[in-house]
Amino acid sequence: MCTIRCCSFYCSHDAAMLKIISFIICFNCVFAYFTLSGKCPENVTLQEEFKLPDFFGKWYQSYHYSSDGQQQNNCSTLELMTRPSGFYLNQSRVDRGLFHRYSIGKLDINLRMEDAARLELMFAFKNAPRRLKTRRYPFHILATNYNYYATIYTCQYSPLIDKHFIYVWILSRNPILNDVSKELAIKPLQKIGVDSSKLVKDDQDKCVPKYYEDVPVEPTTFRFPVPI
Ligand SMILES: *[C@@H]1O[C@H](CO)[C@@H](O)[C@H](O)[C@H]1NC(C)=O
Ligand SMILES: *[C@@H]1O[C@H](CO)[C@@H](O)[C@H](O)[C@H]1NC(C)=O
Repeated sequence: MCTIRCCSFYCSHDAAMLKIISFIICFNCVFAYFTLSGKCPENVTLQEEFKLPDFFGKWYQSYHYSSDGQQQNNCSTLELMTRPSGFYLNQSRVDRGLFHRYSIGKLDINLRMEDAARLELMFAFKNAPRRLKTRRYPFHILATNYNYYATIYTCQYSPLIDKHFIYVWILSRNPILNDVSKELAIKPLQKIGVDSSKLVKDDQDKCVPKYYEDVPVEPTTFRFPVPI
């Protein structure tokens, strides 16, 4: 299984040989990452009149779906923050049961009311080549009632191999998502063609890992720049 770590490591070297190696490695990554055929789902209806201010505060990741089957962390939480330069999303998690880490993405807000749920996240990848340092990913709110659940997804398409990647977050205000909220949260998954039986339950118990890293790192849910 390939991760962004190998890609960004090799790609950041300039030597021609390493570039070739990195291309092969990255190419393999791309194949392992984009597994669903065709383009991202189109004309997906999102949460109507999404109100960002009501979305602030902490959310626990109760379930997730990653189309490439990756499962590298648990105890994930998401929290919006306000800074003088804008709104940011803090995605924290425990990686491989050992490291408490977080990633900060800048939120790009859609000012048109009808597109309010169509958010984008921008992440900085410090070790990547210059043109890939800043990457944008869709972060679309499928549904939320603000007080109990939220269903969010991202999708990336690779024109190179005509495949896409989907990641879904089922978020809960409480460490445990109640059954009624879960039903409401998984309903919109049909709009993006995700089978709810493929959701993976996230562990929110034992969230005290061995190591605590207090610096932002690259996100594990968003890995490839598009388009490739
Ligand atoms: C992000 O969230 C985690 C977990 O709540 C916290 O430990 C970390 O300090 C936060 N980072 C920032 C920059 O607020
Ligand atoms: C999830 O947490 C458990 C308990 O800390 C740990 O043993 C396991 O390796 C973790 N799984 C992943 C994928 O991080």
